[in-house]
Amino acid sequence: MCGIVGYVGPRPVVPLLLEGLRRLEYRGYDSAGVAVVEDGAIARQRAEGKLDRLVERLASHPLSGRYGVAHTRWATHGKPIERNAHPVTDARGRVAVIHNGIVENFLPIKRRLQAEGWEFSTDTDTEVIANLVSSHFDGDLAAAVRRALPELEGMYACALVAAGSREDEVVAVRQGTPLVLGVGAGEQFLASDPAALLAHTRDVVFLENGDVARLTREGIAIWDATGRAVERPLQRLNWDPIQIEKGGFKHFMAKEIHEQPQAVRDTFAGRVDFESGEIAFDWLELSRETVASLRRVQLLACGTSWHAALVGKFLIEELTRLPVEVDYGSEYRYRDPIADASVLVVGISQSGETIDTVWAMEAARERGARLVALANVPGSQATRIAEGVLYTHAGPEIGVASTKAFTTQLVALYLLALYLRQQLGRPIERELLAALAHLPQAVAGALELERATDELARELHTATDVLYLGRGIQYPIALEGALKLKEISYIHAEGYPAGEMKHGPIALIDEHLPIVALASGRRTFEKVKSNLQEVKARDGRVIVVTDRDPADLDGVADHVLAVPAVSELLQPIVNVVPLQLLAYQIGVRRGADVDQPRNLAKSVTVE
Ligand code: AGP
Repeated sequence: MCGIVGYVGPRPVVPLLLEGLRRLEYRGYDSAGVAVVEDGAIARQRAEGKLDRLVERLASHPLSGRYGVAHTRWATHGKPIERNAHPVTDARGRVAVIHNGIVENFLPIKRRLQAEGWEFSTDTDTEVIANLVSSHFDGDLAAAVRRALPELEGMYACALVAAGSREDEVVAVRQGTPLVLGVGAGEQFLASDPAALLAHTRDVVFLENGDVARLTREGIAIWDATGRAVERPLQRLNWDPIQIEKGGFKHFMAKEIHEQPQAVRDTFAGRVDFESGEIAFDWLELSRETVASLRRVQLLACGTSWHAALVGKFLIEELTRLPVEVDYGSEYRYRDPIADASVLVVGISQSGETIDTVWAMEAARERGARLVALANVPGSQATRIAEGVLYTHAGPEIGVASTKAFTTQLVALYLLALYLRQQLGRPIERELLAALAHLPQAVAGALELERATDELARELHTATDVLYLGRGIQYPIALEGALKLKEISYIHAEGYPAGEMKHGPIALIDEHLPIVALASGRRTFEKVKSNLQEVKARDGRVIVVTDRDPADLDGVADHVLAVPAVSELLQPIVNVVPLQLLAYQIGVRRGADVDQPRNLAKSVTVE
């Protein structure tokens, strides 16, 4: 989720690049940098922190030139420090690269290049691209990039400049992550998001996967993944500036819901070796001895992150057999919690700034517990107090209602459970990893329910109460569905374990109360079905999210939202998607401010 921009043309490049970065700053802001080609050599400036730091640096150390690239970073590989900021240069100082995404096989390539004598000075996967392209470079940058590409696996976009190019040129690659080119008169632009270009041109070319583009003052040349020169259609964008920031969606929340296939992929990419079955993290290492000494795990969180923790309990207990306790951050430190060095405490917080969670983590640390943060925002408070960090790679989440931050937390908890299993010396079966590889596609499949959920929203937006039901690993998803509806539509909603209905809430059921139920999983499908029969017998209106054949729910469901099946442990990540869509569409129909619901804040830094 980094922001990237590039320019070639007659105008001074640095102000143009900075203006583009300003429009992309919301995508990531742990560091920023710019590289230009000046008198045939690469010159760059980078600074840790927000863009203003880079602007100050450039005021005292100016750069000039007529072509270059610039970047705002949201760290994935390597700490958010200046050394790891982009643009990253190769060991011979010939190539500078900016990059958004992840090179999944960067480690074997890095080892090979190191053996060939290439030095590495950052912790980034990007440096592999710089050195690899440089190793192929003979004055034609686009050709060098095309030669390097087949070796790189993953989803990414990047832009490069080189010292020693035969003419002014910027080269761009799109491999799964968006990249758009802007066409001007005698000048060309590129960016990860059209928002960065539209002040200068509305004529754009969207690259396709595998495309390599060469931008010169005269124009743009594009080669497809097979190396064939191709033409891509020129489009005229008529978006207004606000629509542009939201990627064409009406709200950030909608954009972020739709970013989930990519966000879940980014969260496991580069951490799982699908060949060997090995799991490794950048900033979290627990030795086999440490993990063997653990007796319990405690997960601390608030709100949506607390729901993720409830799913995490299932995952960790199932995959490691270690007992797991889940606590609200706001409750943990107001009793005398039991924790010591035999307890692994994981503070789960998207923002990493939620004071309830951070203070609960402090309380655990004071008791000598092993402390890990699971967070989305690099350098946030939770990440600073923990001994290790497991980052979700969701990218910035602007909508107050968590969507992609939640699904990526579930992916990270699955990885953590597998990692603990590995460190306990237990095998990681192939099917556990195969399910993960299939996940982004399954999430994309669930997004196709958008029209069906909108039909339901038309019906449900006048409801005064909605009940969400689930069992087992789907019960936290019922809680999350209810929370999403509450916070963005202001409709009263409750999540309940389906099996508990008969102990009280069934008294609420009549033809006016819509019920949204989650029915999946080998262990609970039939049980949930029986619970729904009890609801139907009392005239309840039932909507079911399932990974089964809808025909299996004949007679118990008024509406079935059928999602792709993954595996029982990952199914919550797919099942929550239609609940997010439904809450969003109901909120929009009720005219609520879905991105900034009343009374709420994105990070809650008060107790
Ligand atoms: C989720 O939609 C909410 N905005 C809220 O419950 C949130 O999850 C909670 O405040 C915790 O935030 P955190 O993950 O940043 O700690």
